[in-house]
Amino acid sequence: MKKLIIINGPNLNLLGKREPAIYGSLSFTEFLDTIKDKYNNVEIDYFQSNVEGTLIDKLHEVGFDYDGIILNAAAYTHTSVGIGDAVKAIETPVVEVHISNTFNREEFRHQSFVSPHVKGVILGFGLQSYELAIQSF
Ligand code: DQA
Repeated sequence: MKKLIIINGPNLNLLGKREPAIYGSLSFTEFLDTIKDKYNNVEIDYFQSNVEGTLIDKLHEVGFDYDGIILNAAAYTHTSVGIGDAVKAIETPVVEVHISNTFNREEFRHQSFVSPHVKGVILGFGLQSYELAIQSF
């Protein structure tokens, strides 16, 4: 069985409550239950942190034995050289996802320190972005 992990960055623990017009009204744990049922032929682990270094530690921990990482680094996408370097340093392929289409939002969201080092990027499909990423593995 393929082993995947979804890693979510800062503020994504508030999904369902946070700016529902942009991010939807479903909590991530509710969504996770449905996708675990739907894709029961793959193991899907989940990790969320609001702390940059903790996200880097997790990438190091899983980045040499999982089959795939689905990473939404949230705001750190646009600021973190460290998370970009961690993605570059590990062996497991990473798919970058975003719930919103970051290119039709503020200019500062157009830059990603993660994108140059990933297998692919999926964005703008709401929570379905995560499903498309699962299907890509
Ligand atoms: C996000 C987009 C980021 O710009 C933002 O900081 C987030 C969420 C998304 O999934 O659409 O927190 O990564």
